[in-house]
Amino acid sequence: MGQARLRVLVACEYSGVVRDAFARLGHYAMSCDLLPAEVPGSHYQGDVRDVLDYPWDLMVAHPPCTHLSVSGARHFADKRMDGRQQAAVSFFMMLAKTDIPMVAIENPVCIMSSLWKKPDQVIQPWQFGHGETKATCLWLKGLSLLKPENIVDGRESRIHKMPPSPDRWKERSRTYSGIAAAMANQWGG
Ligand SMILES: C[S@@+](CC[C@H](N)C(=O)[O-])C[C@H]1O[C@@H](n2cnc3c(N)ncnc32)[C@H](O)[C@@H]1O
Repeated sequence: MGQARLRVLVACEYSGVVRDAFARLGHYAMSCDLLPAEVPGSHYQGDVRDVLDYPWDLMVAHPPCTHLSVSGARHFADKRMDGRQQAAVSFFMMLAKTDIPMVAIENPVCIMSSLWKKPDQVIQPWQFGHGETKATCLWLKGLSLLKPENIVDGRESRIHKMPPSPDRWKERSRTYSGIAAAMANQWGG
């Protein structure tokens, strides 16, 4: 018997990396971002709230981490004072509380661990074919822990070595293809 075709929302994704990993396996996958899609495919350019109540089976969400990540902790006092952090937390929690039966929320090490709950797992790109380090937290609902698929040598922190540029944040936040493939294989299989 063939596998069920899932309706998959990839929230806060402009790259199409996770969307296309699910689409390649025959699922209906749509990305959504305020930005246009980097590569052609099913994409809603706009606020994720506009499409959240569609009957999705599975959502992978990458909410913005700028005001949550511990790497920006030195600015937390200002961000709390003017409400930017509260707004970012509220957006994260909106995604966490949807009725979608299977949900994965991805973020770097961030304040949600203490403010809400610890992530279900912390994964690294080197567990999925990329010889790099970047601790990535996953909060999961209705999904199994993601199993490493291709552990490789190399523990380079490429992200920290990137030179300043207007697109640096995009390069830093783009999902690794090996992690996207594992999500599709294991959660959409
Ligand atoms: C950390 S980046 C995630 C990028 C993702 N990993 C990828 O490969 O494309 C967060 C993204 O959230 C998007 N975003 C912020 N607010 C949003 C909203 N209300 N609705 C949809 N997307 C939003 C931003 O434009 C940004 O591209």
